[in-house]
Amino acid sequence: MLILLILGLYSCSDDEAEYISINRELDVNIPSNFPQIQYDLSANPPTEKGFELGKKLFYDGRLSSNGFISCGFCHEQRFAFTHHGHQFSHGIDDLEGTRNAPAVQNMAFQKEFAWDGATSHLDLFPIIPITNEVEMGETVSNVVSKLREDDEYQKLFTEAFDEGEVNNEYFFKALSQFMVMMVSSNSTYDKYVRGEEGGEFTETEEYGYELFQQKCASCHTSDLFTDDAFRNNGLPPYPGINDIGRAEVTGSTADNYKFKVPSLRNVAITAPYMHDGRFGSLASVLNFYDTGVQDSETLDPILKQNNRLGIDLSEEEKQALIAFLNTLTDETFLNDERFAEY
Ligand code: HEC
Ligand code: HEC
Repeated sequence: MLILLILGLYSCSDDEAEYISINRELDVNIPSNFPQIQYDLSANPPTEKGFELGKKLFYDGRLSSNGFISCGFCHEQRFAFTHHGHQFSHGIDDLEGTRNAPAVQNMAFQKEFAWDGATSHLDLFPIIPITNEVEMGETVSNVVSKLREDDEYQKLFTEAFDEGEVNNEYFFKALSQFMVMMVSSNSTYDKYVRGEEGGEFTETEEYGYELFQQKCASCHTSDLFTDDAFRNNGLPPYPGINDIGRAEVTGSTADNYKFKVPSLRNVAITAPYMHDGRFGSLASVLNFYDTGVQDSETLDPILKQNNRLGIDLSEEEKQALIAFLNTLTDETFLNDERFAEY
């Protein structure tokens, strides 16, 4: 081992730059059709080793108190990193939460995280699931102690970060590096808007896209399909759970029942839908917008226009909208081996 290392050093000695750059910086994919990136890459530039470490952490059950619940347990790649088939995510001891796990994708482009925007810094987000007693039920300091005792983690932290010790800061930075690299931007829709090969729409998809721009894009804005705002889209409060959403964070009743407008990327495969996963299909979501919207003090004014609640949608329009939403599925991302557990 030592001999190999010396040989390695020796062979690079006339090209020092190459030796220093052994932990290569990675290129973050910034798609031309996306809004501006929000994550400060200069404060935590993703590197090969940092990404590798972040990925190992994302899939490691030791981040939870019982050793089994990893981030990947609730965020599965095949379903755009949502918790497939679960209305509410369950974590340790099968305890159930009250919210549906959103997709983890394009996080670098997002301003605020969680349905109520509990934090605006991606690096700090993992504290929430780790310390939540129904998710991972652990403390960050316990997690970091466990990692410190592990030789492989020690090695990975040393390789990934300059000073190299296993600490909270690098733990969070590594997880962010993994998530920052998770960019989904290769759906048929993306190819369509960028004029690339494979980006042809059928007539129905084209019609659905027009309808979407007229009826949905005021909230599901830009090629991320969110305006980053918190809004009340008229869901009646869920029986037995009084989740007040954004008001939980701001303490203002003006924010009651407002939730983050979700990105609709990969939406065809991320059922169930809404912050509480109450709808099992896109058809039920559209039926809701058509006939289920409930009035309240904080209902978004956009859903109270033309003397009617909600959004008028004929059966034909619903079909076309669903066809359009299907074009947002990005097989490249869903099958990208860089993000896969195995
Ligand atoms: C028990 C299931 C569960 C586990 C384990 C879990 N999450 Fe989540 N995740 C959720 C749920 C539910 C939400 C929505 C939380 C909310 O809105 O309050 C969420 C939200 C997120 C978001 C915000 C997405 C957005 O669009 O705002 C990110 C990022 C995320 N999780 C990353 C992680 C990471 C990293 C880990 C591991 C440290 C992790 N999650 C562990 C269920 C889980
Ligand atoms: C007034 C703003 C607004 C308009 C207009 C709007 N939405 Fe939404 N949409 C939201 C909000 C806010 C949520 C999240 C609500 C929640 O979970 O409480 C949401 C959630 C969704 C979801 C669930 C996504 C998920 O990951 O769970 C889908 C699908 C959806 N909207 C599609 C549409 C379509 C299609 C249209 C047009 C017919 C539309 N929306 C119009 C604000 C809006």
